[in-house]
Amino acid sequence: MTPEPAPSVSQLLSFYLEAGVDCALSEEPINRLAEPDRPADFKTAAPARDVNPSRPTETAPTPPAAPLSEPPPAPDAVIASARETARTASSLEILRDLLEKFDGCALKSTATRLVFADGNPTARIMFVGEAPGRDEDIEGLPFVGRSGKLLDRMIASIGLDRTKVYIANVIPWRPPGNRTPTPQETQICLPFIQRQIELVDPDILVTLGNPSTQTLLATREGIMKTRGRWLSYDTGTRTIRAMATFHPAYLLRSPSYKRLSWQDLRAIAKALSQSAS
Ligand code: URA
Repeated sequence: MTPEPAPSVSQLLSFYLEAGVDCALSEEPINRLAEPDRPADFKTAAPARDVNPSRPTETAPTPPAAPLSEPPPAPDAVIASARETARTASSLEILRDLLEKFDGCALKSTATRLVFADGNPTARIMFVGEAPGRDEDIEGLPFVGRSGKLLDRMIASIGLDRTKVYIANVIPWRPPGNRTPTPQETQICLPFIQRQIELVDPDILVTLGNPSTQTLLATREGIMKTRGRWLSYDTGTRTIRAMATFHPAYLLRSPSYKRLSWQDLRAIAKALSQSAS
């Protein structure tokens, strides 16, 4: 049998792109197969993270280590454990630590880092997107890429900036190649974003785009129907006003909808000023 010809560089790059590998994370490749055996508690070891001096150093308890040889738990059990874990978080710092240590979502193993939130945890308005993309995965902050720049301009158009809003995503890890998160991944991450909303306790929740709207506002209707209408979101402690609007990435692709998005933003600004008085 004649051996297959070696692939060209461009064929290899196309293969990587199709597999979702679209950025280099270090100068040299790492041969994972040549790595020595990992310790049994590898899966529960918290990854190193930047120390933010402005954050209190509260830490969450480390969940018990599961031996690597055990079969993966059933999806329902992982969702139940996500619910139980998120419920125990008494602050955003603890919730973040718990997420850093949570191994129930496979997206964590392909993402570079956790993308927890940006902005002001005491803000009266909270924006929630779908999932981090490549730029967010590199920086560890939500909405810092092209769509994030547009979100900044949308927020600025109603006189706000990142010091006055809180921004997060339903999914806190980048899906490989920006693929759509699976329903199971969404259900596993849902208790964490729900707890995050409860802890921030904003007066107004803005869901950006269809996935975040359908997940958080429990609707099956599309964004064309849901956007611009006041809905309610039960944080678990109280009911807050919620509005869906277009995702900035969608507005970049379809700028003609910016007009409708401006209407939504004006309604949001008006509600904010009314709830302040
Ligand atoms: N799109 C999202 O939904 N969230 C981000 O953080 C970036 C892009």
